Amino acid sequence: MTAAMATPPNGSKPLSNGMFATNRTRIVLAITLLATWLFASLIPSYKQSVKDLAQKKYNEAIGHFPALKVDWHPKVDSEVQFNASKVALLIEGRPIPHLVPQLLHMMSVVPPDWRFKFIGTNKSVMSVSRSFATQYQALNGKLDLVVLPKPWKVDSKEDIYRLLTDLRFYNDHLSEVEWMLKFESDSIMCANSGDTLDDWLHYDWAGAPRSKDDTFAGNGGLSLRRISTVKRILGFQSRYNDTEPEDEWFGKRITVLPGAKVASGAEETHLSVEDTWFEKPMGYHARDMGENLADDVWKDPKKRKANLDYCPELAMIMPMKLERERCQGDDKMV
Ligand SMILES: *[C@@H]1O[C@H](CO)[C@@H](O)[C@H](O)[C@H]1NC(C)=O
Ligand SMILES: *[C@@H]1O[C@H](CO)[C@@H](O)[C@H](O)[C@H]1NC(C)=O
Ligand SMILES: *[C@@H]1O[C@H](CO)[C@@H](O)[C@H](O)[C@H]1NC(C)=O
Repeated sequence: MTAAMATPPNGSKPLSNGMFATNRTRIVLAITLLATWLFASLIPSYKQSVKDLAQKKYNEAIGHFPALKVDWHPKVDSEVQFNASKVALLIEGRPIPHLVPQLLHMMSVVPPDWRFKFIGTNKSVMSVSRSFATQYQALNGKLDLVVLPKPWKVDSKEDIYRLLTDLRFYNDHLSEVEWMLKFESDSIMCANSGDTLDDWLHYDWAGAPRSKDDTFAGNGGLSLRRISTVKRILGFQSRYNDTEPEDEWFGKRITVLPGAKVASGAEETHLSVEDTWFEKPMGYHARDMGENLADDVWKDPKKRKANLDYCPELAMIMPMKLERERCQGDDKMV
């Protein structure tokens, strides 16, 4: 009973406590709401100032970049810019990864009025045309990317020999061309050379000599040819399928052609090095991408170093390894 009597005052206390607690919760809630609302009302201007700051930083950063403007529709007429009678030709059916850098490098060392033609398979043309730089050169009229229609094929060396010894190919695809630089995926011209390709235009055929006193510097892997002379030969001679390579076949005929001027090993010591070493040529043909190299040019470590120091671009087309990868006691001959 006493306990029951004492309950009301005790009981009222929890009640008033409860009311106070409720009030406090409400006040806290109200303040929180107020704060949230105040904060929320500030956010847009906060956002804006962050945006302004970012824009400022961006503008500052952009200011430091060199201006780059790509004109996808060059106004310069390719007929004026390039000389239709000069073409550098690369035929390659395999989508080799170095084709793009090699083509771009060659464009930078061959005189600027030369146009370039790349003839390949669907696969190799696709791989070359994926690059932004080659797309630009193609749009600019500097580079032609071609998949020949059937029955032409460029899948094997023999296919290419047949193509290059067929008069129809020159009439249909190189009709305006008089000078053709023929290079392969394992040929390179050296930026350090003091000579220009145009120095050789008076030859009907100039390539790499096979020996020091070769009467005909005719190796065709990196060679300059005069198309009117090539067509003259094809006008009365045809190559049998599956016989000698096209450069040897042309060589036998062009050296006896009245009036034709061919480079000889003795006088032509600059254009291209393949079998016979000489100093500072305009370019190299590293046969079969370095798999089938001539001893005279590559075996001696001193000559090898001289070649690579003079023409570092060779690294683009040849497999390389570091000197320190060699075995101990190696005589450094390849
Ligand atoms: C093209 O180049 C050849 C050889 O350098 C030159 O004789 C000829 O005049 C040039 N053609 C044009 C249209 O510039
Ligand atoms: C190459 O592509 C063309 C057109 O896309 C196609 O007609 C042709 O059959 C293709 N050739 C090969 C060998 O895949
Ligand atoms: C040589 O091969 C081509 C196909 O590339 C063929 O059209 C031609 O008839 C062949 N020539 C001879 C003499 O067999």
